Amino acid sequence: MRILVTGGTGYIGSHTVLSLQEAGHEVVAIDNLVNSSEESLRRVAGLSGKAAVFHRVDLVDESAIDAVFAAHPIDAVIHFAGLKAVGESVREPLRYYHNNLTGTLNLLRVMDRHGVRSIVFSSSATVYGEHNPSPYLEKMEIGANNPYGRTKEQIEDILTDLGAADSRWRIALLRYFNPVGAHPSGLIGEDPQGIPNNLVPFIAQVAVGRREKLMVFGGDYDTPDGTCQRDYIHVVDLAQGHVAALDFVAEKPGVFRWNLGSGKGSSVLEVLRSFEKAVGRPLPYEVTGRRPGDLPAFWADASLALADLGWSTTRTVDQMCEDHWRWQKNNPHGYNT
Ligand code: NAD
Ligand code: UFG
Repeated sequence: MRILVTGGTGYIGSHTVLSLQEAGHEVVAIDNLVNSSEESLRRVAGLSGKAAVFHRVDLVDESAIDAVFAAHPIDAVIHFAGLKAVGESVREPLRYYHNNLTGTLNLLRVMDRHGVRSIVFSSSATVYGEHNPSPYLEKMEIGANNPYGRTKEQIEDILTDLGAADSRWRIALLRYFNPVGAHPSGLIGEDPQGIPNNLVPFIAQVAVGRREKLMVFGGDYDTPDGTCQRDYIHVVDLAQGHVAALDFVAEKPGVFRWNLGSGKGSSVLEVLRSFEKAVGRPLPYEVTGRRPGDLPAFWADASLALADLGWSTTRTVDQMCEDHWRWQKNNPHGYNT
C-alpha cells in the first residue's frame, strides 16, 4: 500500500516509516517540521534503502493537504502529527486545540473527498484520566485531565462519530503508553527541543553531559519504591504495532481501540538503574517534589492487541535504555550533531 504518514519526520513517525518500508509499503510523509527535522527521514532512507516522499505541509492548511492527495494515490493514513507537551498545553490551550483538532479535521475532510477512509490515529494512555484503576482496558470510560489529553479524547470522539455515520471508514485508535528507546542502529531516535519533559530523554542528556542531574519528581508515592510507575514501550515495538493495526483495518471496516503497552509498570528509579547499566556508570539524581498532574502508577492491559493484531511487545526496559543510549551517545545534540 501507499501510506501517508503525518508527523513522519517526528520521533515515532520516523521509526514507523522505517517499519512500513520494511513491510513493503510505499510512504509519503508530511510534516510542518515544528518539532522535527528532515534529517530523520534521510537516515531512515539510509537504513531501508528506500526514500520516502516528503512534503513540508502544515495540517492547518487544508489546501496543502489536498495537493498531496491530488499528487499521490494514497491507500491509508497514519496520523501522528500534533503537539504533545502536557505542560505547554495547559499554558497554551488555544494553540493545542487549534493545531491538533483543526489539523485533524482538515485531514479527515480531505481524506473523505479523495475516498481514502482508512486511518490509524496516535492516541494516548492519558485519555484514561485519573479515575480508572490499572491495568487500563480499552472498554473503560475515558476522561483526560489536561488540554493535550482532551485533544486526543476529542479526536477519538470525532473518529468514532465518523465511523458510526459511514460504515466505509476503517479506524484504529492506538493508545500509546510511554514510548522510549531508539532504532538499534543508533541512527534515528528522539530529539527533544529544549529541556526534555520526559524521563528517558532527560536521563540520556544527563548521561551525555548536557544536564547536571535527574530530578526525580516525587519519592513518596504509594508504590514499591515511592516513585511513579509507567508502562514503557520500545519505539520499534510501537512502530510495528502500527503496521499490524494497518493490516487489521485493511481487512475489516469499523472503529477499533487498542492499548499499545507492555502490560507492566516500571518505576522511575528502575528505569534510571537500567539506563545506568547501559551507560556503565552511576548517574547523578535528586529526589524532589511531585510534578503537578502526575498519576502514581498506570500500565496497560495489552491483551486485546495480542488477540486482535497478534502484536505484543518483545523488547525489555534494558533494551530500551541500551538503544536510547546508543542514539544519544552517537548524536549528543540529536540531528544537529
Ligand atoms: P513528535 O513531536 O516527534 O512528532 C510529531 C510531529 O508532528 C512532529 O514532527 C511535528 O513537527 C509534527 N506536527 C505538529 N503539528 C503539525 C501540523 N500542524 N502539521 C504538520 N505537522 C505537525 O512526537 P512523537 O513522540 O513522535 O508523537 C507522535 C504522536 O504520538 C503525537 O500525536 C503524540 O501526541 C502521540 N503520542 C506520543 C507519546 C509520547 O510519549 N511520545 C505518547 C502518546 C501519544
Ligand atoms: N519524571 C521525573 N523526572 C523527569 C521527567 C519525568 O521524575 O525529569 C517522572 C515523572 O514524574 C513520571 C515518569 O517520570 O513519574 C514518567 O514521566 P514522563 O514525562 O516521561 O511520562 P508521562 O507518563 O508523564 O507522560 C507520557 C507522555 C504523555 C502521555 C503519557 C501517557 O509524555 O504525552 O505518557 O501515555 F500522555
